[in-house]
Amino acid sequence: MPCLVVVGAQWGDEGKGKVIDLLASKADVIVRFQGGSNAGHTLVIKGQKFIFHLIPSGILHKGKKCVIGNGVVVDPEVLVEELDSLRERGYPVGGDRLLLSEAAHLVLPYHKAIDRAREEKRGIGTTRRGIGPAYEDKVARVGIRVGDLLHEEILRSKLQRLLETRAPYTRDLLGEDIRVEDLFRDLLRYRERLRPFITNTSLFLARALKEGKRVLFEGAQGTLLDVDHGTYPYVTSSNTVAGGACCGAGIGPTQIDLVLGVAKAYTTRVGEGPFPTELTDQVGHYLRERGGEYGATTGRPRRCGWFDAVVVRHAIRVNDIGALALTKLDTLTGLDPIRICTSYLLDGEKVEEFPDGAELVARCRPIYEEMEGWREEIRGARSLDDLPRAARRYVERLEEILGVPFSIISVGAEREETILLRDPFEERAQGLLR
Ligand code: IMP
Repeated sequence: MPCLVVVGAQWGDEGKGKVIDLLASKADVIVRFQGGSNAGHTLVIKGQKFIFHLIPSGILHKGKKCVIGNGVVVDPEVLVEELDSLRERGYPVGGDRLLLSEAAHLVLPYHKAIDRAREEKRGIGTTRRGIGPAYEDKVARVGIRVGDLLHEEILRSKLQRLLETRAPYTRDLLGEDIRVEDLFRDLLRYRERLRPFITNTSLFLARALKEGKRVLFEGAQGTLLDVDHGTYPYVTSSNTVAGGACCGAGIGPTQIDLVLGVAKAYTTRVGEGPFPTELTDQVGHYLRERGGEYGATTGRPRRCGWFDAVVVRHAIRVNDIGALALTKLDTLTGLDPIRICTSYLLDGEKVEEFPDGAELVARCRPIYEEMEGWREEIRGARSLDDLPRAARRYVERLEEILGVPFSIISVGAEREETILLRDPFEERAQGLLR
């Protein structure tokens, strides 16, 4: 039975929320496996806008189970807020719908304070949600896990140990110690809200897979923000690639049937770091305004540029992407010509492969191929034949350059504004891909 991992093939914000929402109707279980409330998946349903930071976007589909896996760093304040807001909008969520891993680490107020303080000194443009500091504590083996909430004595002693380990650092950066007693009291308050959801999610997933349930893994951020495979150090602090689904949810790699990559029809990035196809001119402005390219989490304007096939080919390789979803094709309407970056010029040499590390990427100049643009609105298109000839050519050319077929093409924010070419859950079964 298919087990599908959806990952971003660029620098995040590829429109994964909508793709996950489309696929969620065919899945039984939807799983987040990395990142935290730095993510912001936007969904527009019947004109109502929903933004999720922690809860898998599948929650809007009745009867589906949603899992927050051990690889996620969970800000309890954000999680409780999301649960409250869903309830207010008519989607109450109980322990039968949402499962929260006992092994997931908590994002504490001091993590957010550290993130903010570091950003103010010399940052990389983080979302200031405490993600980096929370993962640092996890790897330093002093983090507080969701399961600790259930054992008061363990929680208190772990908080004390955290205070002692981090004191030299917090005193220097924040000018104060972690307030253990305040933290302890706040965490016990959150515990009462979160208790119904806390469980061993790896075990739950093993049973679900054994029963033949369809499991959908919802990646956050994008491949180029992966701590190992992205533009280090301008990256997030988790493994955003498909392999992260195994560690971040506690399943084995051979359980995964297909990796679906999501790529925008152009490129965007928020925060610092190299971006070879960035456009700082009128065209970049056009993409930002027409595409509504402002961060779902921070509201920051996104940097915009042409489609970079070197980036997406890199993502295809490190994730083993077998099918792609192309999003926001409608944003390109009105631009002529349209450019695709097919390779780079690096110190006078043509390179086809994405170089390792931010310093080399910063020296790359894009080599473009030019395509004819189109003027027609395409939000009404439901098949490739409904697209203007130039738009169809653009899609076909991208497929040729990338060497991976598109399963989904998104032509607008609404669920219906979609061209569904193939059902990703059926791809492997039909032998279309390999
Ligand atoms: P952090 O994840 O908040 O530590 O931020 C590290 C980098 O990842 C910054 O450049 C952020 O702008 C970027 N980032 C984190 N989450 C997202 C996301 O969901 N979409 C796009 N960029 C993100």
